[in-house]
Amino acid sequence: MIIAEELTKTNETLVIKHSEHLSHNIAYPFFLHQYAELMENGHTVKATNWDDNECGIIWGEIDGKVVGIFAYKKDQIKQKVLNILLTAVDKNHRNKGIHTILNRYFENVALDLDCKFTVATVHPKNQTRLLTCEKDGMKIYYHKLYKEIGSKD
Ligand SMILES: CC(C)(COP(=O)(O)OP(=O)(O)OC[C@H]1O[C@@H](n2cnc3c(N)ncnc32)[C@H](O)[C@@H]1OP(=O)(O)O)[C@@H](O)C(=O)NCCC(=O)NCCS
Repeated sequence: MIIAEELTKTNETLVIKHSEHLSHNIAYPFFLHQYAELMENGHTVKATNWDDNECGIIWGEIDGKVVGIFAYKKDQIKQKVLNILLTAVDKNHRNKGIHTILNRYFENVALDLDCKFTVATVHPKNQTRLLTCEKDGMKIYYHKLYKEIGSKD
């Protein structure tokens, strides 16, 4: 469903759409490609942990082509948290303010769901995303620590 139209920093018309389900829409393959890229560059674990039906997605199109997505996960809605599953912008369209625009609509969805927090999980070496988080007004709340324990066999 189209929710708005906005101009990017380079004056291109960004058509913003929202689906309350992650899959069965034009943005889903873009989401999967970008997620796989994060796995390849070591910015997320090589496993998935979402249920398509518990997730939604906001995306932006320029000339009918998906150029950016903002996928979210409703698994902590009881704590009034809306988790960001993935935000990503096509390499050829970065630094045009697209993420910043989509984040505004994402926050509106969070408010509509009666959430008090939006939460991003970011690899400490993903400097660009950490900078966008700062620009979005997000602050580090926890450090989540991992230890790779291997397996018994
Ligand atoms: C993170 C990402 C979504 C940002 O998208 P974007 O549309 O390029 O971001 P914006 O143009 O809205 O930039 C927002 C702010 O982030 C910061 N920023 C973005 N890219 C930056 C860069 N390369 N260097 C420094 N700061 C940067 C700036 O502060 C910018 O604000 P400004 O324009 O006022 O300076 C994009 O880089 C991306 O898709 N990265 C790969 C996927 C990824 O890592 N996703 C996050 C997984 S946790």
